[in-house]
Amino acid sequence: MRRSMRSLLVAAATASLVLPLCGVTAASAAPPGFSNADKSALRNQAPIDLAIGSAVWGKQQLVGYDPADPTEYQQVLGAQFSSLTPENDMKWDALRPAPDVYDFASADALVAYAQANHQQVRGHTLLWHSQNPAWVTEASTTWTCDEARTVLEDHIRTVVGHFKGQIYEWDVANEIFQDTWDNGGVRLRTEANPFLKACSDDPVGLLVDAFRWAHEADPDAVLFLNDYNAEGVNEKTDAYYALAQEMLVAGAPLGGFGAQGHLSLQYGFDTSMQENFERFAALGLQVAVTEADVRIPLLAGETGPTPEQVATQAERYDGMLQACLNVKACSSFTVWGFPDANSWVPDVFPGEGWATILEDDYSPKPAFDVMLRSLRDATPGTSPRKG
Ligand code: XIL
Repeated sequence: MRRSMRSLLVAAATASLVLPLCGVTAASAAPPGFSNADKSALRNQAPIDLAIGSAVWGKQQLVGYDPADPTEYQQVLGAQFSSLTPENDMKWDALRPAPDVYDFASADALVAYAQANHQQVRGHTLLWHSQNPAWVTEASTTWTCDEARTVLEDHIRTVVGHFKGQIYEWDVANEIFQDTWDNGGVRLRTEANPFLKACSDDPVGLLVDAFRWAHEADPDAVLFLNDYNAEGVNEKTDAYYALAQEMLVAGAPLGGFGAQGHLSLQYGFDTSMQENFERFAALGLQVAVTEADVRIPLLAGETGPTPEQVATQAERYDGMLQACLNVKACSSFTVWGFPDANSWVPDVFPGEGWATILEDDYSPKPAFDVMLRSLRDATPGTSPRKG
């Protein structure tokens, strides 16, 4: 029989409503409005130096939010998580419908919800080869590097400036490296990414400047490189490690390295994740798990995940969380949305699903339970991590 979290979630969310709004909570502040005695909330059981986040699509879930009458989804989101990442609302296609038009409506709704629920916000993302509006794709076919730089600089300064003081970590550059299996192997995406393409003579120079523009617009935000297949020590993360060093030597205000954490039970778990995080931390960077989900492939003859698959999924989530907990420089651990009904996985990976930590009725899966236990074990109450 499933345990229901609903009454606890409602109690926790309601408690937060009576508190005055106080803007973005510092990473080290205990989440206000939530009793440390409430053992059912991830955010309450996390060490105070680790934010626990979820992706959320503000346009679909948070526009029209009424603190006096939250949806059940909004209650769970507020009760469980201390950090939010806009799943789509801060991407170029959402923010830039036209070259001279910025539309912040749904991103602003997300930030307002986060502040009302004493959550921090991870910005996502400023430079990516995907989800660019058609005008970028079209214009970029003839861009000179100077023209691309002008468009990117305006975007970064405007967007980061708009949210100045309200975002603690920004994924400045997302998925800028190809994979081993791509044409040409692991190298910067100087074909697919329109900005890197226009500046393919000196892509690192463009990256250094992108981070510099973001830093000037909001000096308090920690600025990240972020990618998938970037959990363990591998050829791609070796390339990131070399790039991070090159950027730091060039004076870039690079502050963090994010491993997205999109895993599938089709593949094994790379146990070198902690070692990978440690080498980036040794460069003085923060690290983060930014988009964790663990997809389950449907087995022949089954209509849903088997108990064994569900148990392995819990181990994989916990493996990523342990790597983060064991490295003090790991500042945030974010799951890529919940419940399964909101997950991007079935749309993009045919035959796979059930990737999130909550059932569609918001009852906890084993992955949720094991993460809650690990957070609780990592720290007495809300103290920072030890060691
Ligand atoms: C995904 C969203 O979840 C989907 O809703 C959208 O249709 C496509 O993008 N890596 C990233 C995220 O950095 O931005 C992607 O999010 C998932 C992969």
